[in-house]
Amino acid sequence: MPRLALLVFLLSAVTQPCFSSLPGVKVRLTKPGIDYANKVVYAELVKELKSLSIPDQSGHDGILSYTLTSIHVTAISPPTSSVSVAAKKNGVTWELDKLSISIHANWKAELKEGIIKISTSGSVDATASGMNLMETASFGIDHTGRPSITSSGCSSSVGGVSVTFHGGISKVVNLFRHTVEDKVKDILPSKVCGAVVDLVNKNAEKALASLPVTIEVVDRFLIDYRLTSSPNITDDYIELYDKGEVFWKADVKEAPFVPGLFPVWTNNSRHLYVWVSEYAPNTFLYEAHTHDYLRYNVTKKDLPKNYNSYLNTTCQLKCVGTIIPSVGRKYPNSTVELGFQTLEAPTAIITNKTLTVNVKTLVTMWAQTPSNVTAYLATLTVNASLTAQPSVNNERLKGVITDHTFKLSVVKSAIGHLFPAVYNTVIEGILTIVVIPRLNSLAAKGVQLPIVDGVQLNNTAILLQEKYLLVATDVMYKSIQSYNFLT
Ligand SMILES: *[C@@H]1O[C@H](CO)[C@@H](O)[C@H](O)[C@H]1NC(C)=O
Ligand SMILES: *[C@@H]1O[C@H](CO)[C@@H](O)[C@H](O)[C@H]1NC(C)=O
Ligand SMILES: *[C@@H]1O[C@H](CO)[C@@H](O)[C@H](O)[C@H]1NC(C)=O
Ligand SMILES: *[C@@H]1O[C@H](CO)[C@@H](O)[C@H](O)[C@H]1NC(C)=O
Ligand SMILES: *[C@@H]1O[C@H](CO)[C@@H](O)[C@H](O)[C@H]1NC(C)=O
Ligand SMILES: *[C@@H]1O[C@H](CO)[C@@H](O)[C@H](O)[C@H]1NC(C)=O
Ligand SMILES: *[C@@H]1O[C@H](CO)[C@@H](O)[C@H](O)[C@H]1NC(C)=O
Ligand SMILES: *[C@@H]1O[C@H](CO)[C@@H](O)[C@H](O)[C@H]1NC(C)=O
Ligand SMILES: *[C@@H]1O[C@H](CO)[C@@H](O)[C@H](O)[C@H]1NC(C)=O
Repeated sequence: MPRLALLVFLLSAVTQPCFSSLPGVKVRLTKPGIDYANKVVYAELVKELKSLSIPDQSGHDGILSYTLTSIHVTAISPPTSSVSVAAKKNGVTWELDKLSISIHANWKAELKEGIIKISTSGSVDATASGMNLMETASFGIDHTGRPSITSSGCSSSVGGVSVTFHGGISKVVNLFRHTVEDKVKDILPSKVCGAVVDLVNKNAEKALASLPVTIEVVDRFLIDYRLTSSPNITDDYIELYDKGEVFWKADVKEAPFVPGLFPVWTNNSRHLYVWVSEYAPNTFLYEAHTHDYLRYNVTKKDLPKNYNSYLNTTCQLKCVGTIIPSVGRKYPNSTVELGFQTLEAPTAIITNKTLTVNVKTLVTMWAQTPSNVTAYLATLTVNASLTAQPSVNNERLKGVITDHTFKLSVVKSAIGHLFPAVYNTVIEGILTIVVIPRLNSLAAKGVQLPIVDGVQLNNTAILLQEKYLLVATDVMYKSIQSYNFLT
């Protein structure tokens, strides 16, 4: 079942539309991606057809009455298959050709001519060959706001039927042959369509219904992957436009800015392309700032073991008390604490070279003395620029800070006039010892990409474009290796 979910996911991404807004995330499923999904779903169908259940049949045909029992599929010869987009039906059309299905059944027949009755039985093998099938699946939106998929038409026909009887009286068998041929022609197309429609209407629909509308990010936030408009179905790809906005979970509100336009991209060699606008990280940073999530006191409990005396005012080697000797002298045996708060919402800027986050903070420093007195030291503005390297791992978009620079200025000081280099040393220490490792551990958790279970990314590359991050990737179904005819 999850195999079909792959196709479904790829074709429909996520959820209820919010038609009023511009998209911050764009997902493009290319022709190679659709073809890959076709192979996966096709493998699922062949499996289904092998266990096709056909009920016992009985009836009359002229002077013949018969029953066919224990009807089962003995062999499938895999068809050729292809998928094409069906723009008018807002979906895809799936075609199977040159399918052949062999079945075996037990039969009993009775011939009644006047007062003469002949009863006989045996078994029969029948092969329907040259079967074809055309199924169209259309996308919509269900009552919960998630994407839905429904079959909007299936047709199938049989080319020819060959029948081999085993046992039975030949006079009856000869009469019965046509009846069995007609039955096979009659029953198999509807059974095959039934299996396909079931795959679409039940399995695929169920898989879609389990897709999250919104995904939690670092506990307090949600990323919204709702569609902002109907899928764009072209000959070369299907595109989906997702909201791509990050909300504060406890107070879902639109950010006061909108995403820009997506860049032009014509290389469709990978299966899937996902554009993430600066808008996504910027709405996250905006909500984080607005809800005081970026207010943090750095205290000695934040220090790693090998730096556990960094905030001491009295120490042997390097600590705030030796970096700023006047603090060491005035407040011995104390620890320094630094309160960070963002002055405005930080901004993420993506150029074709780098992803940078600019953060303007107000930093308040105080000393906590042995007698529990809080002694105010200084207030600074620290405006930092963090360069991040994005990556995709386990279907999550992650990042790591690879570089940072900052500028600071002293707003107020209770410890006299100091050279800025002194504060620089303290702040540089706090950034590298505490702040950046904390941000990196958050960024390492990453954000889930909207992908259903069982799907993995392969050959994934991340490209930076002006205002956008582009994930270019192939997809693979996790247990695809078991389908050896997919090569
Ligand atoms: C759909 O794709 C076509 C072809 O790339 C493009 O011209 C059109 O603007 C797209 N529509 C939307 C709504 O983006
Ligand atoms: C498209 O991108 C692939 C790698 O993603 C590259 O190998 C190929 O040369 C590109 N094709 C064109 C026409 O630029
Ligand atoms: C930081 O410490 C100051 C002074 O002790 C306190 O007033 C403030 O609430 C603390 N802020 C946070 C976010 O813990
Ligand atoms: C730093 O201060 C703490 C108490 O705040 C103390 O336990 C620790 O020993 C001090 N470290 C050094 C190296 O003096
Ligand atoms: C600081 O702590 C040390 C060791 O506990 C002690 O000898 C010294 O007197 C203390 N200094 C002050 C000024 O309290
Ligand atoms: C990156 O952007 C700069 C400035 O917009 C432009 O001059 C340069 O050609 C771009 N480089 C690439 C590889 O697109
Ligand atoms: C300082 O305050 C802490 C708790 O805030 C308390 O456990 C400790 O005993 C106090 N120390 C002094 C010297 O008052
Ligand atoms: C940091 O940014 C704030 C707000 O824009 C500004 O007031 C301050 O002067 C800046 N500080 C430095 C050192 O650039
Ligand atoms: C993943 O990509 C590599 C390199 O193109 C390819 O050799 C491999 O077959 C792919 N794996 C799957 C399972 O498709």
